[in-house]
Amino acid sequence: MKKIIIILSSIIVIIFIILMIFLFNTDSKDKDIKETKDKEIIDKVPKEDNNEFSKLSYYREENLDRYKAYQSNNSDLSIEDIVTRVNLNLDKETYTDTIPSTNLNTNYLLVNKFNYLDSSYIPNNLELLDNSYAKSGIYLVKEAKDNIERLISDAKEDGMNIRVISAYRSYTYQENLYNNYVKNDGVENADTYSARPGYSEHQTGLVVDVTKAYDNFNNFENTDEYNWMLENASNYGFILRYPKDKENITTYSFEAWHYRYVGVELAKKIKASNLTFDEYYARYIESENN
Ligand code: DAL
Ligand code: ZN
Repeated sequence: MKKIIIILSSIIVIIFIILMIFLFNTDSKDKDIKETKDKEIIDKVPKEDNNEFSKLSYYREENLDRYKAYQSNNSDLSIEDIVTRVNLNLDKETYTDTIPSTNLNTNYLLVNKFNYLDSSYIPNNLELLDNSYAKSGIYLVKEAKDNIERLISDAKEDGMNIRVISAYRSYTYQENLYNNYVKNDGVENADTYSARPGYSEHQTGLVVDVTKAYDNFNNFENTDEYNWMLENASNYGFILRYPKDKENITTYSFEAWHYRYVGVELAKKIKASNLTFDEYYARYIESENN
């Protein structure tokens, strides 16, 4: 009888142990399944949703590491400024990783130290400016020409004497100009005020350099004509392209005389935004027009 009791108890203990092992296994399997499911859910959430930059419409996932690096070196900047500047390649050396400009022959054409025009690019519809508005032999794209002539005539009625001294410049013209500056002033200085050939906005045919008639362009900042341009140029489709205090964005010294034609609607928007053309392009034009 004692033997039977021992055998029976052993059986019960064994059954109990088997039951426990089974239960433990099921529980751990359930846990494994749950963990795998959780991981799948996390993996399914797009990575870009996990960072503060991704809420911006001009966020680019491939630039995420660069945004983070730029932010750690420029912690005072807003998220908007960080994304905009990195998209413009301002975290890189100028004239590196350059790409051909897109939007050729449109008012959206961006040319800067990272976006260039081919040496063979000549804009469509270039027209000669009348001598009463400009130095002789000055060409502009027709739409820009019509608007600068209207601007100069209207300014005259306000007692302003504005004259165009440079507009369309061919690749070769810019090459000679830049090489001369380099010869006289060195590459580092020349790069602060002159574009290298292919990188000059003048090659777009959408740019004017203006002066108070027969005055030196370097003095334009101190004239009533300059203040008139600041106030009114956008009504004729022109924007100040290299403003004061924006040198770190445009990568050029302030140029009071250089205006870019972008069309009236866009010029008004850019003026109101207080952004440079580069910044406005990176935020609102690039993704829509490429
Ligand atoms: N001076 C401007 C930057 C140019 O050379 O195009
Ligand atoms: Zn210029």
